[in-house]
Amino acid sequence: MAVYSNVKVKAYGKINLMLDVVGVRDDGYHMLNTVMQSVDVFDVLDLTLTDGEGFEIKCDREGFPLDKSNLIWKAADAFREHTKTDFGGKLTVTVEKNLPSMAGMGGGSSDCGAMLNALNIMFGTLLDEDELAKIGADLGADVPFCTLGGTRLCQGIGEITHKLSSPHCAFLIVKPDVSISTPDAFRKYDRIVNPQRCQLDYFLKGLASEKLLSMCIYMFNVLEYAAESEEIELAKKRLKDAGAYNSMMTGSGSAVFGVFENEELAKIAAEKLKPCYNYCEICKPIKKGFELISVQR
Ligand code: C5P
Repeated sequence: MAVYSNVKVKAYGKINLMLDVVGVRDDGYHMLNTVMQSVDVFDVLDLTLTDGEGFEIKCDREGFPLDKSNLIWKAADAFREHTKTDFGGKLTVTVEKNLPSMAGMGGGSSDCGAMLNALNIMFGTLLDEDELAKIGADLGADVPFCTLGGTRLCQGIGEITHKLSSPHCAFLIVKPDVSISTPDAFRKYDRIVNPQRCQLDYFLKGLASEKLLSMCIYMFNVLEYAAESEEIELAKKRLKDAGAYNSMMTGSGSAVFGVFENEELAKIAAEKLKPCYNYCEICKPIKKGFELISVQR
């Protein structure tokens, strides 16, 4: 029985501040050491329960899947199964899609994490965040993080998360006009002999020291090797030339971000880079993966 007939939430995107591959599981999934960071760019999910039955996703972004392949749909099925909840009506999810797809910003995973949180509110199921993240773990490697949000060291294939302190900075994120599929990125990475590795301990010390530069020196993403993209290299260079302490590809790409001391400096860089990229967004680190906008009984 629903507590609310309408729940509206923000699904925050993420970036990876460092990403290392430390092994491969028998099922082909890669074991990671990665630090993920929620950022305040977001999609909006508007859930409405009406008379009738069924499930529907609506979105006006072209190419956005509206069927069972969408992680929002999978989240609904997994939530229903796990909590034995009968939605008791027709559930329609209207998505305002702002996060770019195939960018490494957790577009699909963020929607999935926010959907689980929104259903937990709508049906008053009172699952704690770890239970929600556990449901999410079966849906995608980044979903547990996106369900929880903030700044976290994620290990295993991404499902083991440890909360970290958040950096104080601003990011400028740009998306070059290349799209990289995650499985392709990992497959390409597997073919690289002796890849350079991340220095996780130094990175974590830098982050904990709250000296931004100490963290930035150790930012590194091993999947950049797999991307092998001039466009990505160029975006990294442009961000640094525009004043970023450091720049890096997020996840399996293709979005690239620069780290700045504050929003004013990121804004100056954005003015320079805007003519080069359709997606060019200033954002801040944020301590949550989703946010409740409103509810209606
Ligand atoms: O879990 P998710 O559906 O996001 O992953 C998409 C694909 O990316 C997987 O099927 C797998 O090929 C690859 N992947 C991986 N190791 C990870 C995460 C993803 O190999 N830790």
